[in-house]
Amino acid sequence: MRMKIRTHLIVLICLGLACFMNPRLVAQTLDDPLELIVLAKPRKPAEPYKKQYDFHKDWDYFTYNIPIWDIALSSYKGRPDLSYLEIGVLEGRSAVWMLENVLTHPTSKLTAIDLFVEVNRVSGEDIKQRFISNVKVAEAEGRTTLIVGYSQVELRKFPSIPLISYISMDHTSLPTFWRMPY
Ligand SMILES: C[S@@+](CC[C@H](N)C(=O)[O-])C[C@H]1O[C@@H](n2cnc3c(N)ncnc32)[C@H](O)[C@@H]1O
Repeated sequence: MRMKIRTHLIVLICLGLACFMNPRLVAQTLDDPLELIVLAKPRKPAEPYKKQYDFHKDWDYFTYNIPIWDIALSSYKGRPDLSYLEIGVLEGRSAVWMLENVLTHPTSKLTAIDLFVEVNRVSGEDIKQRFISNVKVAEAEGRTTLIVGYSQVELRKFPSIPLISYISMDHTSLPTFWRMPY
């Protein structure tokens, strides 16, 4: 059990840190052990989304990662019963991309955890509502569980860690490690 948790943690920490590091990423397929793969360069696609979402123009912490995620997660796309956890969803830029591109099977699920605190004078409640309406536009409200709270508290209630996890609450390594409840 501890080994399994450790493996999941390595995958999710690497996904999180890859946002600001370089085009290399440690990825794990469902069947193979961890392997280091060289991926695409970060670049913001001209049209990152298939639908129209309500995103703040200055809060893009994600779309330049799309070429990397596209390759790293290609073997997961469309699989049934996928479970994806995202800690720190904000308005849902990365979560919605996952819904449109990876969690496309009707049995796949998104679990989102966020504190929803005020950012640049936009209230936490407004950000939460924007996340909820973006998930609705993605037509995934029935497959999404939203948990409002501190991840370090909420994660302790999980019976197991979902297969794919993205820690996006802080893009530096120390707080990410320190906030882990294990
Ligand atoms: C950089 S933003 C997330 C960006 C998002 N993934 C996206 O694609 O736009 C960081 C988010 O982490 C949340 N957050 C920070 N610390 C947290 C914690 N301890 N538990 C839960 N959420 C947290 C903040 O409320 C904020 O919404």
